[in-house]
Amino acid sequence: MDKKIIRQAMIKQRLEVHEEEYQSYSLKIIESLLTSSFFNMEQPLGIYMPIRQEVDTLHLIHYLLASGSRVALPKVEPDGMHFYYIDHLDQLVLGTFGVMEPQSNHLAEKISTLIVPLVAFNEKKERIGYGKGYYDRYIEKYHPQTIGIAFDFQKQEFAGEIHDQPLDYIITEKRIYE
Ligand SMILES: Nc1ncnc2c1ncn2[C@@H]1O[C@H](COP(=O)(O)OP(=O)(O)O)[C@@H](O)[C@H]1O
Ligand SMILES: [Mg+2]
Repeated sequence: MDKKIIRQAMIKQRLEVHEEEYQSYSLKIIESLLTSSFFNMEQPLGIYMPIRQEVDTLHLIHYLLASGSRVALPKVEPDGMHFYYIDHLDQLVLGTFGVMEPQSNHLAEKISTLIVPLVAFNEKKERIGYGKGYYDRYIEKYHPQTIGIAFDFQKQEFAGEIHDQPLDYIITEKRIYE
């Protein structure tokens, strides 16, 4: 199936997930992430602020900051997406595409693990994003370990394109794809 059609359908379906399910699935996914063998809080982490019912990362970010992890969030800039370390969630301002972005100018040059949002994924762990390719370009350039987090219904059949970077792991409320 066409990436564009799946993108539209999945954005819509994700917005239709009821609040209790959204919260309970998000919690399951975050617990699964924190207890997985491949997640290391001691290394610099890149993570996103959720929009449009992406898996809720807010409690995770709070927890990581409180635990002293190095946490960086993405900012879309004219030359692409970059990650900046934050110490507090109050260091965020509304940025491009309605995403809360870091105000900090403490550039994270070496993200060890990237927590990746996604609109859909396939059996090869290729992802569909919002159609701008920001994560594809970032992953191709810096090669962090990548962990996608998503709801299980976001697994779809589609052919990835040559520039689509497969993720290392995808965690859903049902299982871990690796
Ligand atoms: N690594 C890359 N280098 C150059 N251009 C890229 C790269 N990755 C993606 N793009 C461009 O970004 C556009 C959107 O990519 P796409 O994979 O459709 O978006 P998304 O991954 O956000 O769903 C594509 O037209 C592609 O040409
Ligand atoms: Mg892509």
